[in-house]
Amino acid sequence: MRRQIGSLLLGASLVVGGCATQHESLESCLQVAERGLRPIADDRSQRFLGKVREDTARCRGGERAVDARNLPWIDWQNYWAAGDASSLGSGSLTSHLSSNGRGIDGALLDLEYQRIELIKFNLFDTSGTYEVYVRGRDGVGGPALKVWPQMRLPKGHPQYDAVGGDQTQVCGGDLIRARTLTGICNDLKNPLMGSSHQPFPRNVQFEVTFPELSQEQLTRNRHGDRLDLLKPDPQVISRRLFTRPQSKPEQCREGHGLPGAPIDAGCDYQKAPFFNVLAAFWIQFMTHDWFSHLQEGHNAPGLMSVGCATEVAGCRPGDRIDPAYIAQSGTPPRFTAGGKDRPSRPYKITENTVTAWWDASQIYGYDETSRRRVKRAAGDPAKLLLSPAGRRAGAGERQGYLPLLEASDPMNPQWAGQEAVGFPDNWTIGMSFYHTVFAREHNLFVDAFRAQAIATPDADSGLRNPARPDQVIRYRDVTGDELFEAARLVVAAEIAKIHTTEWTPQLLYDEPLFLGMNANWSGLFRGKEIVQAALEKITVNNFGKSTDVKKATQWYSVFASGPGIFGLGNRVYSDDAIFAAYDPSKTDLWSIKNPDDVNGGTNHFGSPFNFPEEFVTVYRLHTMVPDLIDYRQWDAEPNRIQNKVAVVETLRGRATQAMRERGLANWAISMGRQRLGLLTLANHPQFLQNLEIPRLGSPSGKIDVAALDLVRDRERGVPRFNEFRRQYGLRQLTSFDDFIDTKLPKGSPARAEQARLIGIMREIYGQHRCDASKIITEAQVNADGTKINDCLGKPDGTMVDNVEDVDTVVGWLAEFSRPHGFAISETQFQVFILNASRRLFSDRFFTSSFRPEFYTHLGVAWVNNNGPDKKMEKGLPNGHEVEVSPLKRVLLRTIPELTPELDPVVNAFDPWARDRGEYYSLKWTPRPGAESDPAFRESK
Ligand code: HEM
Repeated sequence: MRRQIGSLLLGASLVVGGCATQHESLESCLQVAERGLRPIADDRSQRFLGKVREDTARCRGGERAVDARNLPWIDWQNYWAAGDASSLGSGSLTSHLSSNGRGIDGALLDLEYQRIELIKFNLFDTSGTYEVYVRGRDGVGGPALKVWPQMRLPKGHPQYDAVGGDQTQVCGGDLIRARTLTGICNDLKNPLMGSSHQPFPRNVQFEVTFPELSQEQLTRNRHGDRLDLLKPDPQVISRRLFTRPQSKPEQCREGHGLPGAPIDAGCDYQKAPFFNVLAAFWIQFMTHDWFSHLQEGHNAPGLMSVGCATEVAGCRPGDRIDPAYIAQSGTPPRFTAGGKDRPSRPYKITENTVTAWWDASQIYGYDETSRRRVKRAAGDPAKLLLSPAGRRAGAGERQGYLPLLEASDPMNPQWAGQEAVGFPDNWTIGMSFYHTVFAREHNLFVDAFRAQAIATPDADSGLRNPARPDQVIRYRDVTGDELFEAARLVVAAEIAKIHTTEWTPQLLYDEPLFLGMNANWSGLFRGKEIVQAALEKITVNNFGKSTDVKKATQWYSVFASGPGIFGLGNRVYSDDAIFAAYDPSKTDLWSIKNPDDVNGGTNHFGSPFNFPEEFVTVYRLHTMVPDLIDYRQWDAEPNRIQNKVAVVETLRGRATQAMRERGLANWAISMGRQRLGLLTLANHPQFLQNLEIPRLGSPSGKIDVAALDLVRDRERGVPRFNEFRRQYGLRQLTSFDDFIDTKLPKGSPARAEQARLIGIMREIYGQHRCDASKIITEAQVNADGTKINDCLGKPDGTMVDNVEDVDTVVGWLAEFSRPHGFAISETQFQVFILNASRRLFSDRFFTSSFRPEFYTHLGVAWVNNNGPDKKMEKGLPNGHEVEVSPLKRVLLRTIPELTPELDPVVNAFDPWARDRGEYYSLKWTPRPGAESDPAFRESK
């Protein structure tokens, strides 16, 4: 059975045949083939760790891959074809038999192993289901369970009776027609799952959370008494390890630039050549949809210090912040299973204020309060309210701008003057940008639907009312409210598609991730309809319905990458149960009357879906934001930078003002052309270290957001970096020096700078004399199978680095060694592999309910085609035939005046004027016509 995975998805035979051209590789490949595929670990300490055996490395990447095996970092980054053109070996990329094919296939196989093991070892629900996950119920193993009493609506909930009250709860009728405001009833049988105010789960064992509390013996062994909320001092860490050095501080002025925003203002920052500022704000826009700890823009009552006990240049003892909300705390009940005593939850539990679904709740709201801020067009309830602002040139201007919050709207005073949207906190010019773009897109879909209704009023719109399922709803019958909800579904799915197939492949700019992310959406066998359909049926019907844990989790995950997760289970055929040969002419029996059809394509892998606390940590991406925006005008020589506008001058109400004064198209081209900040040490925006937060009334009136990132993680019990990596199935580090990228030449300035920063890290976190009798983890073992102790492989009594204490954010920022084209570190990426897949797997609107009955026929086609019609990109970018990318299509519709600028752009998150060059090049060179753009005169 194990062999079948390889042969089905990647063709195990390729491994044998592929090495025939190189003698050494051939032998290695034969050995690999004879051994068969690696078994999935039974115990977390035996995990894959992204590290392969020597012969496997040689078969997939030659000696370069073999040499890198002793480093802590994942191996696939060194396989053939996983980098730029210099990583290419022999043979074509599409041939599984060539060295390039082996490299790519090997990388995909490694990624799938990681996902399977993450699903197996990293799900820890905090809503009360964990015990049954471990023990199972009624003879069914926990990971194969699909319904939990904790996911019932509680008595007193307004929809309690509607879903069945104290009987079996199943959502139906109006509650399943579209995405609900609070996110209930996405899963028909688990109504509460993913709704607003559900607890954040964890991806790590409860025992390793809240290391500052020192409650567990292993934790005490790991950290001694070295940790506390403000130990090591977060502001000292921020000032010494995070600050962007400035060559001309007088032109930067802590991120404020110069009065009047002239072009001789300047703030230095380290830039990513392949990712633009639009990408930075995109991810802020996403996080506002997925999770929030704050309630209406504030934390719990009170004020607390945030460090600076030992003064270092720049830090402020007078900074204060309101403490994090804690929903539940106290010693957790324990239970024994499998001979092991376990806590049933962490010491403290935090709550996700917003819906966990990818439902565009930042636009449309997530509870009654936030919904009151969402304004519909007067006289047309299907549309969002947009009105023209000013008289600028540009065809998109007619589509309008969002209205402002009114005094009668629910509002935190600091939001006055901002656009009225569901989630208004931390409002930036980027939030103003995306909210406006997607409000325009919403209305354009409504316009297209209306045009269709005029053309074919009596035709079937596809929509159905579950209360009257047999009644065809013609285009002319669709009400304004129904159309509003269908447009919301379309916008949310477009956003998910942009994120999965456009943002992420540019964030992780290499071939394995291009293929992997497209596989998550549309499958590895895209274009091979019959294979896809067959795999989908096996996934949904055989594995999805199985009560066997392995089938319901591992096999499900593997087979799902064939057809892709999006749309899983949205077709049903009579011979599904005993899958027979696929025939495209068969009748689709999917029925909105059958809850098992509506819900049948989801899989939560035994643990109710929500984003874990650890996910929030790896999205603390503040270094991506530049201090100043190079402001350009689309209709006045885009190659010229007209102003250097301080981001801090475009926050909250001033974002709205800036949007209205300068216009959407100019902000688009400015943020589209500019590179964002690298996620690395010494690169935090100056303005975020000095952010004014008047609402707090603290002595300094300011907060260092970079330091706050560390404080929040400590308040919420995120384990420190090394144990974080072990928990996620990545190899631990044994000293601070492991961070240094040894691929860089010795003596090179880049390597010297890394060594300097690591020296500071050592000064801050310190060293201690180790005690080999102290075991520090159960998540990983040494290469010889012995337990890992406080000495991390060094002799007892040696002075060792306190590498266990490094805050997780500090650790992943310090990962100088990364796979090619990775804007993020491999540790962050590991968290995404699990959770990015789960937010698709768990959502019926992306799987079995991606159907015309909910989206309308027009809506389904709009999502599939990236708009009203399908368009292909010119040429073969990185060797692939690709559709015009979904965000590019949205921008072309909502800001049509940018058509000439966008025409050569392949991915809207790649700096627009960059020449993409050959295979996954990261070079910073101008495309034809942009030679005079001064940004290209900067070397980095
Ligand atoms: C100008 C831009 C930005 C400003 C002014 C800003 C400001 C802030 C502030 C003040 C907090 C702390 C809230 C608290 O815990 O009390 C915060 C949290 C956070 N920020 Fe930003 N931010 C910006 C950009 C970004 C970007 C680009 C990202 C990218 C993902 C991001 C991700 C986050 C995350 C994940 C949190 C934690 C949220 C939570 O705890 O629920 N921010 N930001």
